[in-house]
Amino acid sequence: MGKNIVEKILERHIVDGTLEPGTSSGIRIDRTLTQDSTGTMAYLQLEAMNIKRVKTKKSVAFVDHNMLQQGFENADDHKFIQTVANKYGICFSKPGNGICHQVYLERFSVPGDTLLGSDSHTPTAGGVGMLAIGAGGLDVALAMAGEAYNIKVPRVVKVNLSGSLNKMVTSKDIILEVLKRETVKGGVGKVYEYGGPGVSSLSVPQRATITNMGAELGATTSIFPSDDKTREYFIAQDRLDDWSELVADEDAKYDYIIDINLDELVPMVAAPHSPDNIKTCAEVGKIKVDQVAIGSCTNSSYEDLMKVARILKGRKVADDVSLVIAPGSRQVMEMIARNGALADIISSGARILENSCGPCIGMGQSPGTDAVSIRTFNRNFFGRSGTNSAQVYLASPELAAVSAIYGCLMDPRDAEFDIDFDDIGTDKFLVDDSMIISPVDDGDDVEVVRGPNIKPFPLNSRLEDSISGKLIIKTPDNITTDHIMPSNAKLLPFRSNIPHLANFCFSTIDEDFASRCKENGGGFIVGGENYGQGSSREHAALAPLYLGIKGVIAKSFARIHKANLINSGIIPMEFEDLKDYDLIDQMDDFVIDDVFEGLKAGRLKVEDKTKGISFYVKALFNDKELDMLYAGGKLNSIKEKNS
Ligand code: F3S
Repeated sequence: MGKNIVEKILERHIVDGTLEPGTSSGIRIDRTLTQDSTGTMAYLQLEAMNIKRVKTKKSVAFVDHNMLQQGFENADDHKFIQTVANKYGICFSKPGNGICHQVYLERFSVPGDTLLGSDSHTPTAGGVGMLAIGAGGLDVALAMAGEAYNIKVPRVVKVNLSGSLNKMVTSKDIILEVLKRETVKGGVGKVYEYGGPGVSSLSVPQRATITNMGAELGATTSIFPSDDKTREYFIAQDRLDDWSELVADEDAKYDYIIDINLDELVPMVAAPHSPDNIKTCAEVGKIKVDQVAIGSCTNSSYEDLMKVARILKGRKVADDVSLVIAPGSRQVMEMIARNGALADIISSGARILENSCGPCIGMGQSPGTDAVSIRTFNRNFFGRSGTNSAQVYLASPELAAVSAIYGCLMDPRDAEFDIDFDDIGTDKFLVDDSMIISPVDDGDDVEVVRGPNIKPFPLNSRLEDSISGKLIIKTPDNITTDHIMPSNAKLLPFRSNIPHLANFCFSTIDEDFASRCKENGGGFIVGGENYGQGSSREHAALAPLYLGIKGVIAKSFARIHKANLINSGIIPMEFEDLKDYDLIDQMDDFVIDDVFEGLKAGRLKVEDKTKGISFYVKALFNDKELDMLYAGGKLNSIKEKNS
């Protein structure tokens, strides 16, 4: 029987388990990436594992998130990452070299290999046919130490593309269409594999926009074939040796197929406050816009910025719009600087930011009160921009640039000027890897530099047979990791300082959460559907762990966050009967007895002593996960094994 691309890669990498969807299997990880925000913690964990050098084919540490240096903290973290990378045999991409996913695609991606990254948009590299998965920092540290990565073998969905995109309709609109149909939780346990005759019309950067934002589906990852278009990209990046062909067999089987005719797509936006709140421009109307932000790992390629420059050339940004642009990498910035496109952008009145995540992570450029911001990014969750009252719309660079000129949200096809995009691509990228520092051959004598902001990560204690505590917070559906552990310019410098960060846990929706935890010695969290969606940030599990949270009971969980909870020794449980959610209230007293027996059976009984009721929760874990929960987290279980 024919195989799809995902099966072909998994077959070559599986080290234990089977390829049966839904089962838990271990896969070998060829390559890893980290960024600074999650990387500091991942490297502290790697150090604790007592290995000399990483065991992957290649691991890369990027610095792109915490770039503002308003105090010593970020600079100290960058120095720690650079020195620890040198010691353990990891490449270091210097601050200023670009956003991890953009640089990874350009300089490190390899079709057919596996990539584990401590960032939820790691699937970007699926644009070249890599099986690229986002995970928590600890999983990435373990992969660097040579451990297999445990995945629930995904179901594979084919997205069958036919036709070709009309002018001003973009790859962003393809992924927005998929999000409209599948929603932000539709992708859980699935990989979206793109195929069909429409694929060959899409360049690698266009494909990467789609695989990047596939993360918003909650999917394990997304992937494109590695074909002639991919080969052209590798030739243009002067990396043909890294390229190989990888396509699905003609008779490959899929779980189900989504058909999209590219000819029928129109420009769309994701309206506030969810990436699946998809609307056409006509549905939103020509609302006034205050800010336009172009960049992020979703849409900051050379191709994207060339299109933006072409739209802006000889035109001016509307008087009451602030247009900010962050190229995705130094390669992109330098190329548009050399060919004059940057001058066209500057001349239009745009503000140029450095090659980094910037406003996407709330690192500057927060919109004003009640402002409307159009962003080419991948997330528009409430508060992520740094301004709770802001209305953030996600859109393509073309729609964003045209809207910046008109001062209102515009269907770019309605622009009164005609733009010629014909010669926008390139067959030769500017290659200069001088900001990528290779590690020394022997790291024994390398001293790791640790500033005062680097604090040890919290460790849980061994699980007990009876756990109890108060229900500290009861949250609604779709709580994101941004809600649990906000990341804004004030907090980001403390990513390696959990005791400080924990004070701000849930602070955007409940200012007293941390103090209630401290007063009550921790307890439980209750969540609705899709609890922990959004970024892979491990801190959304580590901060609750530090505050004494023992378990989270939700209607359902987002995949990475659930794994991060288990890694931290916090038990994720799901209501057997969703109606029980309505019977319990914040500050109720919970007791769970016979925990070990219940975990073996896959179900626990929760007694609500305040209400005098009890209910059952699903607690289904494989043997490895159980080991972690018993030991009080993954690091404890590894320490126990090695002792
Ligand atoms: Fe950075 Fe935003 Fe991507 S924070 S890695 S640009 S999702």
